[in-house]
Amino acid sequence: MTKQDVGVEKLSFYTPSYSIDIHELAIARNMPPEKWEKGLGQQQMSVITPHEDIVTMAYEAALDILTVEDRSHIGLLLFATETGIDFSKAAGIYLHELLKLSPSCRVLEVKQACYAATGSLQLACDFVRSNPDKKALVVSSDIAWYGFKSAGEVTQGCGSIAMLVSNQPNVCSVEQGQVYTENVPDFYRPSFSEVPFVDGKMSIKSYLSLLKKVFKPSSLDYFCFHMPFATMGDKANKALGDEQIPAERLEWSKEFGKLVGNIYNGSLYLSLLSLIAYADTSLAGKQIGMFSYGSGAIGEFFKLQINKNYKQAALVGLVQERILNRRALSFNEYEELWTIFSEREGAVQYSPVASYQSPSLRIALEKVENGHRSYRLINDD
Ligand code: COA
Repeated sequence: MTKQDVGVEKLSFYTPSYSIDIHELAIARNMPPEKWEKGLGQQQMSVITPHEDIVTMAYEAALDILTVEDRSHIGLLLFATETGIDFSKAAGIYLHELLKLSPSCRVLEVKQACYAATGSLQLACDFVRSNPDKKALVVSSDIAWYGFKSAGEVTQGCGSIAMLVSNQPNVCSVEQGQVYTENVPDFYRPSFSEVPFVDGKMSIKSYLSLLKKVFKPSSLDYFCFHMPFATMGDKANKALGDEQIPAERLEWSKEFGKLVGNIYNGSLYLSLLSLIAYADTSLAGKQIGMFSYGSGAIGEFFKLQINKNYKQAALVGLVQERILNRRALSFNEYEELWTIFSEREGAVQYSPVASYQSPSLRIALEKVENGHRSYRLINDD
């Protein structure tokens, strides 16, 4: 690690404490389970609770990694999401208050489908390069909701990634990437719609086309791909031809996503955490190729170098425990929770029902009043 290195100092992931089994969902939808389990590679998906939203999930992930001293050095907070709760005020303003960040910290919400977290990470690295005494906080927080019985229902999920970016990149150094932007109508959610309009096949085609445009062959040992479903990683790896990596190395990066489902912006970074958790050799010093895709569309390929303290600095033990300890919902409970979510998002007034509040929550959405959200800290020790 040289002095000029910039990248991720600490990394964590939060997902709610409830999940649905994909096999059970397939049976309930009269779908052959092997289509979703083998064809898309999914096993479970996280489900949002009545007390949680993009702000609470972002807070949970950020709280895992930030000391009081870190907070005083953060000069930039970028909140990447395509599940915005307001067309005007940035969700990061709530997070800024909850985390007690400095009033001189600049806060922006960043949107470009599933690419915004990567764009934010690169902008945060540039910020640190020009302000080496400061740090930046990048969070992604999304709730992927396509609607009951839609083609995308199996590719739902929810979760938040938090990355502290600084010139002490204990997890990994981040290199500048190669970007390709073009206007593609594969996925969009106009303001009148609660769910996105998706042409899944066009999206996959555009994803692979942009990957080929930005990929630079350089004998990398590992890849992490944006994976809205696990077999998207196989398609991406195969598209790299002679440069593809052996299947088992790709499998390591897929494990968490298979259990959590689609978390939009955080998906690529969940792949990275999964690789760190499951790789059977040390990743220290290894170069990882990262491909980020956001419908609409932008593709970026960039490299990470994993640094020697990566295991402690990426909270994989905590993340794994969080994912493996979720309670499995029945199909009826699954429908109940997503119904509460979809009705709440458009509501002017809302108070969460008492059930489903996990004892491990450190923050809860208290209410929506005149469209304004308020939050209650439960335990931030
Ligand atoms: N057993 C095993 N595999 C099966 C199967 C069965 N009984 N039936 C179908 N499959 C396979 C198909 O061959 C296909 O694999 P392939 O693409 O490698 O050929 C896979 O399962 C999915 O089948 P498909 O018919 O394409 O599914 P779908 O029409 O339901 O669409 C998505 C799948 C992902 C496109 C859809 O869920 C979607 O639009 N999701 C949201 C958007 C998204 O995730 N976009 C991705 C790019 S960002």
